[in-house]
Amino acid sequence: MSKVTVVGAGNVGATCANVLAFNEVADEVVMLDVKEGVAEGKAMDMMQTAQLLGFDTTIVGCTNDYEKTANSDVVVITSGIPRKPGMSREELVGVNAGIVKSVALNILKYSPNAILVVISNPMDTMTYLSAKVLGIDRKRIIGMGGMLDSSRFKYFLSQALECNANEVEGMVIGGHGDTTMIPLVRLATCKGIPVSKLLSEEKLNEVVASTMVGGATLTKLLGTSAWYAPGAAGAFVVESILHNQKKIIPCSVYLEGEYGQSDICIGVPVVLGRNGIERILELELSDDEKAKFTASAEAVRKTNADLQSVGAL
Ligand code: LAC
Repeated sequence: MSKVTVVGAGNVGATCANVLAFNEVADEVVMLDVKEGVAEGKAMDMMQTAQLLGFDTTIVGCTNDYEKTANSDVVVITSGIPRKPGMSREELVGVNAGIVKSVALNILKYSPNAILVVISNPMDTMTYLSAKVLGIDRKRIIGMGGMLDSSRFKYFLSQALECNANEVEGMVIGGHGDTTMIPLVRLATCKGIPVSKLLSEEKLNEVVASTMVGGATLTKLLGTSAWYAPGAAGAFVVESILHNQKKIIPCSVYLEGEYGQSDICIGVPVVLGRNGIERILELELSDDEKAKFTASAEAVRKTNADLQSVGAL
């Protein structure tokens, strides 16, 4: 029996659980939330769609009852507060660090072998915090941001190309922040054709700019941070792990010398399978991409340093 827990039954967590169930990624999905009744209610609501949508996954909701999460194969952490319009993800560190730390410790108590997928913001720093406090094999701690940013990149490319987004390939590496993410235009393609052959430099610059503020644009429109694509991207990452799909997905992972970086979690392409991170792919970056990656890592380190000032590390 396969089991996935989603901690946090807010917009992102509930969407993730819903996609996991709808796609029958796991036999059982447990949602846990601190707000009395919310996870139970959302689980029951989703279970009432099972015969409408035709899925067999069982969804269970609970209020802070970690025993119900026991022996999960994969655990998705979405806990904490989302950003409000005008806020950066980094500003959430003070509130979210304590929450994510206690969730990660509780999860490990009941699911000592689980693979963790961290979505809470600031995502790279929350992934780093989890890696530091849990001290488990780095293969089992995966930050989800690059898949979401890549989906947005592919969406904006498809809009500019006026083509189906499924024909577009593209990847965003670096930090999951408005100024730290690096959409890799050089490697993006449409049906195998480099996008630089299909779009002007000006158009490509627009696509990159829209991608980088993709989350902020939605936060402004919605009054809170987005959830459909973040939740679906989380489920996509879980599926590659649980079904041993070995997809290449940019994720925030703890680096030990790869890309010239150590003691940091930041987005790089990895192969995701049943062991979590099966392999880290080291791309040959251009000088410009290398400079951007170094600057991105510096910015992520700055936010990581806040973990000490807020007493989380
Ligand atoms: C976003 C949040 C989830 O980018 O980080 O929408």
